[in-house]
Amino acid sequence: MAINLPKKEYDPQENTKAIECYENYVNPTHAKLLRMMGLDSAASEANGCYITDQKGNTYLDCLGGYGVFSLGHRHPEVVRAVRLQLDKMALSSKILLDESLALLGEKLAQITPGDLRYSFFCNSGAEAVEAALKFARLTKKKPGIISTFNGFHGKTLGALSITGRDAFRLSSEPLLPQVHFVPYGQLEPVRSALDENVAAIIVEPVQGEGGVHVPPYGYLTGLRKICDEEGILLIADEVQTGLGRTGYLFACEAENVVPDIMVMAKALGGGVMPIGAITVRPPVWDVLLREPLIHTSTFGGNPLACSAALAALRVLTEGCLLEEVREKGEYLLDQLQIFPKIYPSVVKEVRGRGLLVGIELTEEAAGGVVMAQLLEHKILVAYTLNNPKVIRVEPPFLITQQELDYFVAALDNAIKYTEEIMAL
Ligand SMILES: Cc1ncc(COP(=O)(O)O)c(C=O)c1O
Repeated sequence: MAINLPKKEYDPQENTKAIECYENYVNPTHAKLLRMMGLDSAASEANGCYITDQKGNTYLDCLGGYGVFSLGHRHPEVVRAVRLQLDKMALSSKILLDESLALLGEKLAQITPGDLRYSFFCNSGAEAVEAALKFARLTKKKPGIISTFNGFHGKTLGALSITGRDAFRLSSEPLLPQVHFVPYGQLEPVRSALDENVAAIIVEPVQGEGGVHVPPYGYLTGLRKICDEEGILLIADEVQTGLGRTGYLFACEAENVVPDIMVMAKALGGGVMPIGAITVRPPVWDVLLREPLIHTSTFGGNPLACSAALAALRVLTEGCLLEEVREKGEYLLDQLQIFPKIYPSVVKEVRGRGLLVGIELTEEAAGGVVMAQLLEHKILVAYTLNNPKVIRVEPPFLITQQELDYFVAALDNAIKYTEEIMAL
């Protein structure tokens, strides 16, 4: 099966300039790594499920910017909302109230589960995690946080302190004190890690960068119960899973669990603007009622970003997009489940929920070969940041069945090729 991926005219000089600048002024080693994989061109334009580079290659985007492009690239309704806002006012005056921010606060209170109500807005996932940690500590007046091995929460110093991968964390130590890491998906180790200094447990309802791990049913409910019994806060990091990715608007709704702090980013900006947010239950805002400027951000919740988010939430909550995510996710998972059986030397396991799917390979080295082969088929994927053995598939929700079939057929070829290489 084939899909028609057009090759565009390109200007070789424009492409060389971008690569040179990246190598000379931004991140030489990263640029070199991408070049080795065959990604030797800068992105030029994007639309829907497709990205075109400066060499004129058009790729099917099955990575979706690690979850940013749930609505695809440049969704027309989001672009329209941002353009309209741009014609009125771009950034905040920082003295007058902003209408789009206030309306977004109301919308998040309506769509987040339970009595989650007040929101703080920032510009990224890590910033939102920082805010969650700070408000948890301020609310409980204790410093301790329980997090999970292989959990990913960002790379700013606070977020890094609770990110469960030594390779990212150790070189930046000393980080925040009193962080306890426990295995993901298990409740007993959480109980053992509790002490009188713990303020909160932070968890991804499906662990994304750790390798796409869906916890056993009852895990989130169990965490909620422990938090209630111990009087500590539950922080759900839904930066990646939130806003429809797993087929639920929020992944913790799979167990009807209401966290004390919900952390969002990535897809919230509709794939057009960067925005992060936390939405919290009323007790967590007590400190802000007393000290309204205790946590602020110059650009956080600016009118352009909030307009994009409002439009994105409209698209996500009207119609049957979530149902489509569930159906397409089940279809994809079903198609991929055959690979560990027919290629056991390359593929160990396939797992996921909704359109967040992980393909665990038997060896880390196989990942590069599979990804390079998929590039030959003009498909973009990437491995998960905390577990390079797992290739994550995270396409826009509007990916069609034909495009999913194209991906599965290309992956079949890529794995077959990898099996042959590994047998040499
Ligand atoms: C669950 C989770 N939390 C936080 C972050 C950090 O987000 P950002 O890269 O926007 O800082 C990520 C990024 O991948 C994430 O997956």
